[in-house]
Amino acid sequence: MQHGFTLWFTGLSGAGKSTLANLVADELRARQHRVEILDGDEVRTNLSKGLGFSKEDRDTNIRRIGWVCRLLARNGVIAISAAISPYRSVREEVRKMHDRFFEVYVECPLDTLVERDVKGLYKKALAGEIKNFTGVDDPYEPPLAPELVVNSHTETREESLARLLAALEAKGFINGVAR
Ligand code: ADX
Repeated sequence: MQHGFTLWFTGLSGAGKSTLANLVADELRARQHRVEILDGDEVRTNLSKGLGFSKEDRDTNIRRIGWVCRLLARNGVIAISAAISPYRSVREEVRKMHDRFFEVYVECPLDTLVERDVKGLYKKALAGEIKNFTGVDDPYEPPLAPELVVNSHTETREESLARLLAALEAKGFINGVAR
């Protein structure tokens, strides 16, 4: 059986977590790995339906995602989480539940996110129409020792993907492909 693990993305809304999660998932599937993605927005309409954005609700959301990732990972699946997961302590809690855990910080300056504003939520948050929006009037605590940092402002998604795959190989999470 393949060796499962959890690949945990963290970063602000719009930083590129889901994009990179989907890209790496495609590549890992092409390499015959079994992969499951738990995406923040999707989880909130299913597993975490009804939860809001208070610290307590976010922590509950992250614990649920972490728990499902653990079940998948210990059964040989590469479980990928793509939720903001703004709080360091609950991320560390989830890390401790795992034998094999790889954390990726998807970094991007707030200015760029506000400019891009793919979902139009930053505009609303800055106008005060949405309260407690991460990065605007709610905290984001960047990881202190993630396995990898990618930056969607300074590198292309292809560059981030290549660096992520290389880091997963270098740290023994996946096997390299013969080139
Ligand atoms: S987390 O904090 O609990 O990890 P999660 O990733 O599930 O967050 O959900 C974030 C998504 O919910 C954002 O990408 C955005 O589309 C939406 N959202 C709605 N309200 C907020 C808010 N107050 N803060 C952050 N994201 C919000």
